[in-house]
Amino acid sequence: MRAFHALAALVAVSPLALLGLRGAPVQLEAGAPMGDAPVAQDLDPDPDVVHVRLKAEHVSWEVAPGHVVEGMGYNGLVPGPTIEARVGDRVIVELENALDQPTTIHWHGLRVPAAMDGTPAMMDPVLPGGSFRYEFTVPDAGTFWYHPHANEAEQMEHGLYGAFIVHDPADPRFDAERVLMLDDLKLDRQGSIEPNGGFFEIHDGREGDTALLNGRHSPTLTMAAGTTERWRVVNPSSARYIRLSVGGRPFSIIGSDGGLIEAPQRATEVLLAPSDRVDLVVGPFAEGETVAIEALPYDRGLGLSETVVYGTLEVGAARPSVAGPLPEKLREIPWMADLETPADREIHMAGRLTVRGVEFMVDGEPDALAAPVRVGDTQVWDVVNETPIHHPFHLHGYFFQVLSIDGQPTGDPSLQDSVDLPPESTVRVAWSPEGRPGSWMFHCHILEHAEAGMMAGFDVIP
Ligand code: C2O
Ligand code: CU
Ligand code: CU
Repeated sequence: MRAFHALAALVAVSPLALLGLRGAPVQLEAGAPMGDAPVAQDLDPDPDVVHVRLKAEHVSWEVAPGHVVEGMGYNGLVPGPTIEARVGDRVIVELENALDQPTTIHWHGLRVPAAMDGTPAMMDPVLPGGSFRYEFTVPDAGTFWYHPHANEAEQMEHGLYGAFIVHDPADPRFDAERVLMLDDLKLDRQGSIEPNGGFFEIHDGREGDTALLNGRHSPTLTMAAGTTERWRVVNPSSARYIRLSVGGRPFSIIGSDGGLIEAPQRATEVLLAPSDRVDLVVGPFAEGETVAIEALPYDRGLGLSETVVYGTLEVGAARPSVAGPLPEKLREIPWMADLETPADREIHMAGRLTVRGVEFMVDGEPDALAAPVRVGDTQVWDVVNETPIHHPFHLHGYFFQVLSIDGQPTGDPSLQDSVDLPPESTVRVAWSPEGRPGSWMFHCHILEHAEAGMMAGFDVIP
């Protein structure tokens, strides 16, 4: 543990940076106008069935005007097409693998059957040239996303991810709705995607200098003056914590990982750890305003990051608003367990240095196997971060609530599938294995940490 701590300090002044080996990052042109992420075509005329084809393939990805990199996308796109469904719909996704390596799709945040979760414990990866049919219903409305669960650090860095929106017709209405996937890309001096790996990247998690909003570097978005929009924001980055600001202007937070929260919350910034989602109500703005969509400096245990500008919002001519007033109460979310419930287990997230390099562990073991849980047995887990850096803890297949952080009650029953674990802290979560037996997993959503062992599988047994 001590060695690990010392290393974190060392990494803040990377010797590679001192030697100037990283070189200056390539400067890409910013400010190109951007349309919205395309919606996946529904091949089934039945209004309660969404049938989509996703072809994972190598793509020439134009990250900025005139700047093309060799990426990976779904149906030729980065991000992949947004899958849209209504709560309760049946969803069929036919995955075709045209990559030169195996892949799967994981439906991050969706409460699907274990066999549809896309993890290696439940399905063989789809080999190049192969295909797989995913089929499930979507029981919850909210902002979700999809991504591979095979060689994910490389595949997601290359652009394999997309949004999955489940609409509830009863949700409050706004003038418009948009998806913002905020990512960053690490380019080499030639302007190509730098190959994954290396000691520091595994230790810290991979961050790049090229900010991406829906797969484009620093685009310009436009919005009509006088209107309010629902922004569904996703953090698909490998490691970056996004302390999101919309030009310092106040917005209302209305949703978390698991759909609407209980009541709108006014704020001028919100933190998205890797894999987090947040739904915001943004606006109204005045004509002629220009607002930066940016991440403010944040210290995730490796020193303060720099501001990252993801894009610019330009406010155009006014349009009459048709948005209704934001209700004071959005939803009632009962607590799954009370604060006094003793924890069923402790989970220790840790790291260490070995001769092979940095290794991450759950309960003392890389890629651990955790004890099973029984359907119907509400779980209270103390998740202990033993390291001096933050880790986003992610549970597959079930929502949890964050009861307390270092014994301090959060008072916030919002449904989550990921939570930030501050350094050397204990986060108490409660969740219910309400059904869907099978093999599941939890892991750090810094992709390099997960691949270096900070993950565990466990069974939900009937
Ligand atoms: Cu987005 Cu295993 O997770
Ligand atoms: Cu997941
Ligand atoms: Cu981690």
